[in-house]
Amino acid sequence: MIIEKKDSFRLDEGVIPATLQPLMAEFQDFVLLRNTYHAAIREVSTKLEILDDEFQVRYDYNPIHHMECRLKSPKSLFEKLERKGYNVDLQSVYKITDMAGIRVICNYIDDVYAVASLLLRQDDIRLLRKSDYIKDPKESGYRSLHLVVEIPVFLSDKTEMVPVEIQLRTIAMDTWASLEHELKYKRTGGLTPEIEEELKNCAHAMAEVDRKMEKIHKDL
Ligand code: GTP
Ligand code: MG
Repeated sequence: MIIEKKDSFRLDEGVIPATLQPLMAEFQDFVLLRNTYHAAIREVSTKLEILDDEFQVRYDYNPIHHMECRLKSPKSLFEKLERKGYNVDLQSVYKITDMAGIRVICNYIDDVYAVASLLLRQDDIRLLRKSDYIKDPKESGYRSLHLVVEIPVFLSDKTEMVPVEIQLRTIAMDTWASLEHELKYKRTGGLTPEIEEELKNCAHAMAEVDRKMEKIHKDL
């Protein structure tokens, strides 16, 4: 769900003192930039909904269980800029490819790859990066297919190419990732190696369930 409410912002130079105007102009640029990323999220999520709707009509089947969209908060944007050693300015924002994020939760592993390939073959979508953590899970046990795509957003005076990070995963992968994230981030000291190992075992077990459920689905 897109939680973000659309910002409304207009510079009123008659009211804002001259000394504050450069700051306000910068603020307006930031708001415009966020709107552009928000637009990119809407474009990509609409594409995904259109594909899902088509499947519903053609095959009486929905490959997408649900989607979650998020625009990086200023707090986590600044944290990331600092972590990566970038300057905290508008130019650096362009180097962050997950300002706009969409999580696509599918029923089965096959659906993850089908949805990704149908999206990537669209003319206005350009693939910037693909990380297949289903084929090669992360050390933690994390599984998902990550795509960073670029999509044009048409504004009044220019066309912006905007990166969007898409995380595609099954319901089981999403369950694991949500719980693992919660466990990890509730503890400032991090998890013990034993618990990390146990979580990895859980990830393997969920992957096994995914394979079995997919087989049942195919056999029916
Ligand atoms: P960042 O600079 O952190 O974005 O790293 P990156 O660009 O190498 O991205 P990566 O492909 O590792 O994916 C980052 C995102 O994937 C995170 O923001 C999480 O949403 C998700 N993710 C990656 N690894 C894990 C993990 O071990 N556990 C969970 N729960 N989520 C993960
Ligand atoms: Mg990332």
